Amino acid sequence: MTMRTVIITDKATGKTVECPVHEGRYGAPVVDLKNLYKDLGVFTFDPGYGSTAACRSGITYLDGEEGVLMHRGYSIEHLAEKSTFLEVAYLLINGELPNQQQFDEWVHVIKMHGMTHEHLSRFYQGFRYDAHPMSMLSSVVASVASYYHNTTDIYNPEHRRLTAQRVIAKMPSLVSKIYRYGSGLPFVYPDNSRNYVENFSYMMFSWPTEPYIANPVAIRALDLLFILHADHEQNASTSTVRLAGSAETNPYACIAAGVATLWGKAHGGANEAVIDMLTEIGDPKNIQKFVDRAKNKDDNFRLMGFGHRVYKNYDPRAKIIRQACHDLLNEMHLNQPLFDIAMELERIALEDDYFISRKLYPNVDFYSGLIYQALNIPTNMFTPMFALARSAGWIAQWMEMLADPDFRIGRPRQLYIGAEKRDYVGIADRK
Ligand code: SDX
Repeated sequence: MTMRTVIITDKATGKTVECPVHEGRYGAPVVDLKNLYKDLGVFTFDPGYGSTAACRSGITYLDGEEGVLMHRGYSIEHLAEKSTFLEVAYLLINGELPNQQQFDEWVHVIKMHGMTHEHLSRFYQGFRYDAHPMSMLSSVVASVASYYHNTTDIYNPEHRRLTAQRVIAKMPSLVSKIYRYGSGLPFVYPDNSRNYVENFSYMMFSWPTEPYIANPVAIRALDLLFILHADHEQNASTSTVRLAGSAETNPYACIAAGVATLWGKAHGGANEAVIDMLTEIGDPKNIQKFVDRAKNKDDNFRLMGFGHRVYKNYDPRAKIIRQACHDLLNEMHLNQPLFDIAMELERIALEDDYFISRKLYPNVDFYSGLIYQALNIPTNMFTPMFALARSAGWIAQWMEMLADPDFRIGRPRQLYIGAEKRDYVGIADRK
């Protein structure tokens, strides 16, 4: 079968280059432009990487037009309904669902790595009592690198596997300590008699003077949210982890870079911003005013939790979270006025041509904060929760990149629009 190619001709020079096209299993094929600069003397220009495939990956597939999300071939709907976060983490890393023996071994090894070095707890003391949790998380995750720097050979597959186990195992400890520190509560060690998500909830909410009884409805809701946030193709924070990793950086420092990127309200920070927005709206009668602001080009306000670079249809995760939120509020007999405002805001926006014409739909962040609130998780802890779940995807993508035979340092170029060449002028001679 003849290789599909794309021919690029520079009419100014008459030079032509024939670029191979690679087809994946699903999704848009890619034009291989590796030799474009060498053969044609030009760079591609794609700010925001809207048309750029930065790597090959077999972990996650998104179809933005159809609202499809799959991990290793399994639909997010099936995983959300039938799996657990720890099983999805195994799937992301290993490429296959575990059999019972493999899963039991996985659970055991994650439990064995759940503790963090006792000295690491001292890092939290350096923060103000009201430090933003994402500032703390990016710092303490980076500090983990100091305990495993000289013993981590990133080119050793076993070291990469051990790193993944440590990252997944330790994030619940690292995140829960942030909440405890901000709440003036003592840190809680993992309790290996509890499963992964219940253990996290125990480390977050247990009270030193009372026995901790987990609410199974809340634990299942949390596990579902972690599944839905585990990985999402080459999003900004995952791309950051890959770029940092391409420089052979310590993997824990790469994860810390991912945490820092996720913090932005254009990305994972949106879940916190959605609650702030819904609270500011306060009453369904105020919704139209905010929708009008979002449409006004002179106002930099955007509807938080709406729109997506890839999804030009309903984010499948948002659909699942909306239903889970509705079910949770009913099961826990909670009245959440913000949920009613969110539903009405969604209804109004999705009937407005501004949003329809731009294919702006609710994304994963639009409803997730409402579930976290129902679980008594403070708003500023929403993005650390997102980071806990996404650390499974980040480390899986990092492992995949290191195992790729074409692995090399990422080094984008630019279009230079700066000053012409000029000679230095001593300060005495400057105007
Ligand atoms: C996540 O990439 C991922 O996969 C991310 C994520 C993951 O799991 O990793 O899914 C998680 O980050 C979800 C997104 C969370 N962010 C928000 O909810 C913040 C609000 N949304 C936007 O800021 C925006 O929609 C982005 C950042 C999500 C996407 O930005 P794009 O792709 O650059 O879109 P754009 O700026 O090109 O917008 C296209 C048009 C523009 O209008 P015009 O210039 O065409 O007139 O849509 C408008 C934008 O002004 N627009 C919005 C809007 N989002 C886009 N207008 C009002 N409200 C919004 N939310």
